[in-house]
Amino acid sequence: MAPVKNGRVIFNEIPSGYPDPNKTVIYDESEIIDPDTVPLNGGFIVKTLVISIDPYMRGRMRDPSVKSYSPPFPLGEPIANHAVGVVIRSENPSVKPGDHIYALLPFQTYTILKDLTGLRILENKEGLPWSAYVGIAGMPGQTAYYAWKEYAAAKKGETVFVTAGAGPVGSAVIQIAKSEGLKVIASAGSEEKVAFLRSIGVDVAFNYKTTKTAEVLAKEGPIEIYWDNVGGESLEAALEYANKNARFLECARRLSCTVSSSSPSMRSMRRNSIANGLSASQAARSSIPKTRSRD
Ligand SMILES: NC(=O)c1ccc[n+]([C@@H]2O[C@H](COP(=O)([O-])OP(=O)(O)OC[C@H]3O[C@@H](n4cnc5c(N)ncnc54)[C@H](OP(=O)(O)O)[C@@H]3O)[C@@H](O)[C@H]2O)c1
Repeated sequence: MAPVKNGRVIFNEIPSGYPDPNKTVIYDESEIIDPDTVPLNGGFIVKTLVISIDPYMRGRMRDPSVKSYSPPFPLGEPIANHAVGVVIRSENPSVKPGDHIYALLPFQTYTILKDLTGLRILENKEGLPWSAYVGIAGMPGQTAYYAWKEYAAAKKGETVFVTAGAGPVGSAVIQIAKSEGLKVIASAGSEEKVAFLRSIGVDVAFNYKTTKTAEVLAKEGPIEIYWDNVGGESLEAALEYANKNARFLECARRLSCTVSSSSPSMRSMRRNSIANGLSASQAARSSIPKTRSRD
């Protein structure tokens, strides 16, 4: 193979609000690589096939002095996330060309890795599309599955409300809930997403930008389970229309910033329900700590 451009997405600037695709990150093609001849020094070279963009990555786009559960992205380096790649060439006896690996990879076409630390060779006996490993069979799917099994205590016939229902976490939760016989109310931010919600079996699907969440829950509730992907107004409405002993699965970041802990609805939650804060990485290790406001 002749030398090729190794396209990379570089972390360029720390954003103050929403990331700006033309400022926060820049696409760079200045690096040239020949995958057939580049020195591997006992490692192996991987071509990235699929790589996920997840909301938590915004938290990594921060000043390194700010502490958090995931490391900050270094400025001037490619951003990174869960990905599937195929091994092109290898000098490591544990890995052979054609192997597919699941790993945290940088956003660049080719990456040279040393060993198997922190990555997994995918057998994929089921013949899944590789994209499934960064979706339903990856971090978002694990978040939905493990947290639901650990905390939802779902019973057939109960009602669950799911926000950001069209996303990878929400849509997995919805499908698990439907398979267990629950009534599912779900919201999303566009008509196209609402149509998708209906296509995966949601009983009451609505656009929270054009329909008030509180009105829907007043009519279709009360709810026994709330899967919270967004916090804010939706959480307030869920608190208002929660049944006694409702379970709240708090998957969204920054919950504490979106609803005041002294608000009437928050006080009502302390009295009547159980709140669980979730961590996907811990869930994947099947050791979710139980952070309950009241048992
Ligand atoms: N705790 C953990 O370990 C863990 C693991 C994975 C994910 N998460 C969290 O789970 C949530 C869902 O993850 P995901 O990957 O499936 O995300 P996602 O659905 O791909 O993206 C988040 C969605 O939230 C909606 N949204 C944004 N701002 C909103 C607002 N103010 N009010 C209502 N909806 C809003 C948007 O959808 P609409 O267009 O429908 O508005 C957006 O697409 C995120 O909060 C993520 O941080 C947590």
